[in-house]
Amino acid sequence: MAHDPKNPIKLFHHMAIDVSDMDVSIKFYRQLFGYKLSERHEAGEVEAIQVELAFLRIQNNHHDMVLSHTPGKNYRARNEQDDIEGTTLFHHLAWQCQDHDAWLEMQERVKEMGIEVIRGPVVHSAYDPRGEGSWGENESFYVLDPDGHRLEIFCDMATIDEDGTFVSYTGERIEEAVVDEL
Ligand SMILES: [Fe+2]
Repeated sequence: MAHDPKNPIKLFHHMAIDVSDMDVSIKFYRQLFGYKLSERHEAGEVEAIQVELAFLRIQNNHHDMVLSHTPGKNYRARNEQDDIEGTTLFHHLAWQCQDHDAWLEMQERVKEMGIEVIRGPVVHSAYDPRGEGSWGENESFYVLDPDGHRLEIFCDMATIDEDGTFVSYTGERIEEAVVDEL
């Protein structure tokens, strides 16, 4: 099928994040999200790539996420000071759960792993009476990875219909919620 002539991009696919300890982070991401390790490589295996890389997958894509590590780099964990000054780090990464029950299961898993929830559970909504007035129409909670990267775990995000109207996860159109750009 020919691609949409308005946009050659299919979707955002993966992100590579820098980690201070490959073994620790591979274990963390495997345990928390069920990632499988597709490939792991030492720095310099390919001349142009002087970082360690681990390619992780959830389903059958070769990778959905990449962990990188630079040998010899003097790493420190992200901290609150990074929100005030520093380089332009990403704010958070997000994982979508299969459904609401799966999202609740993830809360249990996080508890079992002894990971602190730094925000939420919260309903991101300006329309749901349970909502806190924030955006996206979904339910979320947030944790930190071993390097202090913020991770969001969510479910039930709204979609946007062809006419710009929000559609809740239950399939209901939220008539008062409409985006400008179609
Ligand atoms: Fe988010």
